[in-house]
Amino acid sequence: MTDAPISAELFARAQRVIPGGVNSPVRAFRAVGGTPRFMVSGRGPYLTDADGKTYVDLVSSWGPMIHGHAHPEIVAAVQEAAARGLSFGTPTLGEIELAEELIGKLTAGAARAGVPSPLEEVRLVNSGTEATMSAIRLARGATGRSKIVKFAGCYHGHVDSLLASAGSGVITFGLPDSPGVTPAQAAETIVVGYNDLAAVRAAFEQDGSEIAAVITEAAPGNMGAVPPLPGFNQALLELAHEHGALLISDEVMTGFRVSEAGWYGLDPVAADLFTFGKVMSGGLPAAAFGGRAALMSYLAPAGPVYQAGTLSGNPVAVAAGLTSLRLATEAVYRRLDDHARTIGELASAALTAAGVGHRRQYAGNLFSIFFTETPEQPITDFDRVRATDTFRYGPFFHAMLDAGVYLPPSAFEVWFVNAALDSAAIDRIAEALPAAAQAAARAVPPAA
Ligand SMILES: Cc1ncc(COP(=O)(O)O)c(C=O)c1O
Repeated sequence: MTDAPISAELFARAQRVIPGGVNSPVRAFRAVGGTPRFMVSGRGPYLTDADGKTYVDLVSSWGPMIHGHAHPEIVAAVQEAAARGLSFGTPTLGEIELAEELIGKLTAGAARAGVPSPLEEVRLVNSGTEATMSAIRLARGATGRSKIVKFAGCYHGHVDSLLASAGSGVITFGLPDSPGVTPAQAAETIVVGYNDLAAVRAAFEQDGSEIAAVITEAAPGNMGAVPPLPGFNQALLELAHEHGALLISDEVMTGFRVSEAGWYGLDPVAADLFTFGKVMSGGLPAAAFGGRAALMSYLAPAGPVYQAGTLSGNPVAVAAGLTSLRLATEAVYRRLDDHARTIGELASAALTAAGVGHRRQYAGNLFSIFFTETPEQPITDFDRVRATDTFRYGPFFHAMLDAGVYLPPSAFEVWFVNAALDSAAIDRIAEALPAAAQAAARAVPPAA
């Protein structure tokens, strides 16, 4: 492993004042070992750490930075907004413009599919967690029911009732559920296998009259890229509606990343509620949830379901998000798709040359490399994800890091490309991969 003395010193200092030294668990590198890198700046496709080393960034702040780092137009919009004042606690024009932009993009996606838009109103919040938490409260308030169906391996933020069998950091640390979630909260959550319609049907047969909503990642990226089987999301919608329940499509990760209209643009299923975050924030804290006006009107102050936020619709965050979305043209999505394909193919070629069994899966331009000796077998759910050879990921990750490529520090996270990746950055990835593939080949499984 490369020496990163300043990061190591900062990490030791951080651990004295911040639990585990980080403000979000996966940043601590526990799944891959070694010293988390403390970044000091980012520009285009590169990050620079406290020791002065640069990395090609394939995490993109876990999704938001689709234009790369410090995009000049986004920085200028933020500076301009900040100069006018940081927060007013009143309505502002920017909030209307951002809401119109979000609705406009999904409405255009719906028009391309020849169907009415499922998104008429949105409420802005500060994080994806708040978006899913609020969408669930609204679903419960509108249906008068309490249970929620979620899928094993899907992550919807750290909402109490949604931590059951969650993906992302929760699997990275092998925490099946979190202490602090009460039995009553857990009892309201029915967890079923992903892509398993029979299990969803059985849940409705057993508890149908108590189920308020099914929540699903529009295309899961928190157990690696595990896309829905064709027709799965539509079947969820139909099953939910047959039983008087709602469908919440969580597009926090996929929204405005995998197409201009997110996963909805690729698979236009008219969920009752959508949740957004990451890309729509431009890299500052902003997120949203929304749906048709009739359902959204249950929210205070129009309706009785309470939801609020001191900094919701913050003018600086709104300026970043709006500029980022306006820059996200069709050409940007073609670039993201091309990068995802190219980098995925380069990784596969290096792993194949090193004799490492693996399977590459895509959910739009989100992708994962699963280490497996049965690469012909699609990975369709969390059980199959957990059966992969994750012990190969740490050595692979560290060889890439040494060579100046920053991958997600967990085998269960997707690789996030950004449109700033250029041929020099892609060359660096290509040069790093053969040694990383050799490191993966040499990895030995932990003793049983
Ligand atoms: C699909 C999905 N939903 C919700 C969240 C939670 O978002 P946040 O981390 O902004 O609270 C995430 C975060 O990774 C996510 O991927």
